[in-house]
Amino acid sequence: MSNSGEAELLHTFKGIPFTTRSSPELLKSLDTFDAREDDVLLVSYPKSGTHWLAGVITKLYNTQVTITSPIEFGDISKLEELNKLSSKRIIPTHLDYNMLPANFKKKKCKMIYISRNPKDTAVSMFHYYRDNPNLPTVDTWTAFFDLFLKGNVVCGSWFDHFLSWEEHQDEKNILFLFYEDMKKDLPKVVKEITLFLSLNVSDDDIQAICEKSSFSEMKNDTEKENSDPSHTVCALTSNRKLIFRKGAVGDWKNYFTPKQNIRFEEIFNEKMKLSKM
Ligand code: A3P
Repeated sequence: MSNSGEAELLHTFKGIPFTTRSSPELLKSLDTFDAREDDVLLVSYPKSGTHWLAGVITKLYNTQVTITSPIEFGDISKLEELNKLSSKRIIPTHLDYNMLPANFKKKKCKMIYISRNPKDTAVSMFHYYRDNPNLPTVDTWTAFFDLFLKGNVVCGSWFDHFLSWEEHQDEKNILFLFYEDMKKDLPKVVKEITLFLSLNVSDDDIQAICEKSSFSEMKNDTEKENSDPSHTVCALTSNRKLIFRKGAVGDWKNYFTPKQNIRFEEIFNEKMKLSKM
């Protein structure tokens, strides 16, 4: 990674790297954020399928809802901007549990956490680093692999992020989802989401929503839309075209060497020894 790029594009807040698209003032003020009881949070580590989930969820409502930009994206005016919204808010975030504004926890807002095999997440993030001008340059997969394992990437360690949320997995207002389950049986996961959000959606409508939410449909829609700049749910870019790359499970096998795989598994087993995953 080039040092000048890193210096210009990233800053660290509470030990976690953020891009300059998240101003330090905004991050400092997050705890003053006024949550509403009906807010729904869409939480993820980057590259876990956030846009896929957001695409599905917005199609489930027949009342007016606004999917906002991520809570940690922008400057100090962000909180006021979100306060002004009169419709129900669906708020995306890559924040770990500890950094989440306290009011969301106090008000027991519904939160959906989506996770993905960290090996595929790493590969997806590697491409994001290469394609996204808001992220530092990374020269090779080998270099990125080391950064990822050390948690020296934007949003910090995958392990810390996952564990911070997993600790709260059994709370009634938190739903844990996996990218791989969505790939395997999307209607089943969507049904689970409707029950969690107390939405009444028929099986036929669920089926139709799933068809419209396939990787190819969503990618094509993005190309047609010609990148509406206000249309990402990721604090790291406003360019939707960077999101839909391959949409596959197991792409890591095309990148990890056998040695890297062993190292990853060792670190995974050590870091996740208290996890139920
Ligand atoms: P890949 O880079 O492996 O293709 P996020 O939205 O959190 O940034 O995650 C982006 C990842 O989700 C990308 O993974 C992207 O292709 C994948 N994705 C987006 N929409 C999808 C869909 N409808 N079906 C499957 N994967 C999807």
